[in-house]
Amino acid sequence: MNINEEILKLDWDRDPYGLYEPIEYTLASGGKRVRPQLAMIASQMFGGRDEDVLPAALALEVFHNFTLLHDDVMDKAEVRRGRPTVHMKWNESTAILSGDQMLIEAYKLLSGVPRRKLAKVLEMFNDMATEICEGQQYDMDFETMNRVKEYQYFEMIGKKTAALLGYALKIGAYIAGAKKKEQDLLYSFGIGIGFAFQLQDDILDVWGAPETFGKAIGGDICCNKKSIVSITALDMADEESCKELNYWFGQILEDNTEKIAKVTAIYDRLGVREHCEKGVKRLIDSALRSLSLLPQNEATEQLRQLANKLNARKN
Ligand code: IPE
Ligand code: IPE
Ligand code: MG
Ligand code: MG
Ligand code: MG
Repeated sequence: MNINEEILKLDWDRDPYGLYEPIEYTLASGGKRVRPQLAMIASQMFGGRDEDVLPAALALEVFHNFTLLHDDVMDKAEVRRGRPTVHMKWNESTAILSGDQMLIEAYKLLSGVPRRKLAKVLEMFNDMATEICEGQQYDMDFETMNRVKEYQYFEMIGKKTAALLGYALKIGAYIAGAKKKEQDLLYSFGIGIGFAFQLQDDILDVWGAPETFGKAIGGDICCNKKSIVSITALDMADEESCKELNYWFGQILEDNTEKIAKVTAIYDRLGVREHCEKGVKRLIDSALRSLSLLPQNEATEQLRQLANKLNARKN
């Protein structure tokens, strides 16, 4: 089953157009579809049927896209997947309301999972959704803090990003009838690659190529985000660089061109990129180790490949 095709089959041609058109626009704009793929592969690992896990896989992708609509308002992001974000193309109210409707649509899709499995899946989905809100709140709180420790950063991204990847796998495995121990192993693997995924996202935010990344470069610098890049830079910096970084991270500007150039130059001088890239590799390697305890079949191999691809991704 091709999950991208299944997502594109969802029909948003409804009134009022103003509410549903941005949903169509978002879901048709591509994206890597990592989360529904994880759910499908996890189910296949335990011999589950694709049609049983499909409602949950679709719900996970629609939910993910909902979080992006609101995240782009919060992060003042103007471009995503190479196109204007919903709040830029329409306005903020549209991004809020179409986002709300996508959240509801995600739950409508989720209600299609096999009856016997629904209560538990709903519980997992809710836990995941709450973690994302908590993670997003930490992410915002950190913008105005001078110093965030690495463990605080990992707690934040564990919630805003890794939880969704972990639960996508766990939900897929659960629907296919995997044992609790197996669900938990897959969940740990998902959290591990989820950490790596957000680190890579933070790296690309500074050093990605706009054409492939599909988002504006330097967005995290503009918002004074505590990303793995900014945290590592402050840890590695000598007194002078630290002062310079703190100066720039104290600024909220209209035109960010100079800020982005100056901060990136400091990162380059300190060798922050190499350090963060090693971190991604370490996290992927450690996540891959938890796979060895699971059934070894085609699905396990697919997860291995997917994890290795994340390491080198450009978007
Ligand atoms: C973006 O997720 C949000 C993060 C957790 C970094 P993706 O990088 O999976 O976005 P799409 O769906 O592929 O566009
Ligand atoms: C994404 O974090 C987390 C969620 C959307 C929940 P980012 O803010 O770094 O994601 P991008 O870079 O905008 O995709
Ligand atoms: Mg964000
Ligand atoms: Mg963002
Ligand atoms: Mg980002």
